[in-house]
Amino acid sequence: MSNEQEGKQAQLRVIQFDRSRYEMVEKTQPRETFADVGGLEEVKKKVQMNFILPLQNPEFFKAFGKEAGGSLLLYGPPGCGKTFLAKAIAGEINANFLHMELQAILSMWVGQSEHNLHDVFETARAYKPCVLFIDELDAIGGNRQNMGQHHERMLVNQLLLELDGLNAHNSGVYVIGATNTPWYLDSALRRPGRFNQMIFIPPPSEAERELILKLKLKDKPQEALNTKKIAGKAQHFSGADLEQVVEDAVEQALQRSLESGELQPITQEDLQDSLKRRNPTTLEWFSTAKNYAIFSDVNKDYEHVLNYLRDHKIR
Ligand SMILES: Nc1ncnc2c1ncn2[C@@H]1O[C@H](COP(=O)(O)OP(=O)(O)OP(=O)(O)O)[C@@H](O)[C@H]1O
Ligand SMILES: [Mg+2]
Repeated sequence: MSNEQEGKQAQLRVIQFDRSRYEMVEKTQPRETFADVGGLEEVKKKVQMNFILPLQNPEFFKAFGKEAGGSLLLYGPPGCGKTFLAKAIAGEINANFLHMELQAILSMWVGQSEHNLHDVFETARAYKPCVLFIDELDAIGGNRQNMGQHHERMLVNQLLLELDGLNAHNSGVYVIGATNTPWYLDSALRRPGRFNQMIFIPPPSEAERELILKLKLKDKPQEALNTKKIAGKAQHFSGADLEQVVEDAVEQALQRSLESGELQPITQEDLQDSLKRRNPTTLEWFSTAKNYAIFSDVNKDYEHVLNYLRDHKIR
């Protein structure tokens, strides 16, 4: 182990005893990589160009005045892999992963939320290469009950400051934001150099659904399963919905095993039964998103959403 690594490990221990920081962010070193994420090839390519290739070819990127680091904003219906993908990005580039829920840094004390936010960014800088994942970004702007307008403005400003600092001297820090409601985001956050890359994370396609089913069934006792058939019937299901279908099927097979006293594999019927009991959770999101996509699409931000609605005949 190099000195530097040893130093990091020592710091790591310290941070776990620092309660206030520990509660604001969860720090891990994810094992998931892109191989665990079914589909989303377009998104993976984009991430590769922004995050991975600069690490592998620093001299090219330097020649063109580009550094490793930067920010992405993931948005889309719930359960389609935003959080999962952010983790996999960290795993893919062997970076630390800081998971910050914005709600957790909001404080009722004036000035304290900004202070907390700054602390989290400082932690990310101390642990680079580091993916800082800001989940529920809509908590700024979306939730006005808990904070006065002025208070909220200050937090947005602090976030802008941190993101701008990111360009100046934060190489090796990757900020990934996620939200279900990008239309509520403060427009200042969307300017170039900040979260200017908005990436739509759609529900999985039929082939992707089959892939996700296979990923979730991997290493579990099962008879020969026709996952293609299940995927075909699971239109509009999110990755999380599919995970739930597999979980239900597992439970059914486990129940049978316990009753018979013998290990009983997951059957096609188990999967079919579970599928029938579940409904896709993405449609509700689309019915809301549609209005914003049609009426507030000034910069063609939601072109991907509109295309998706059209291609999948969602009304
Ligand atoms: N493309 C995918 N490949 C493999 N698993 C997936 C995929 N998409 C979703 N999942 C599974 O669904 C679970 C939920 O996904 P995740 O938490 O990333 O959704 P999300 O988009 O962040 O949702 P939310 O908007 O509710 O936060 C993941 O833990 C993962 O197991
Ligand atoms: Mg999430």
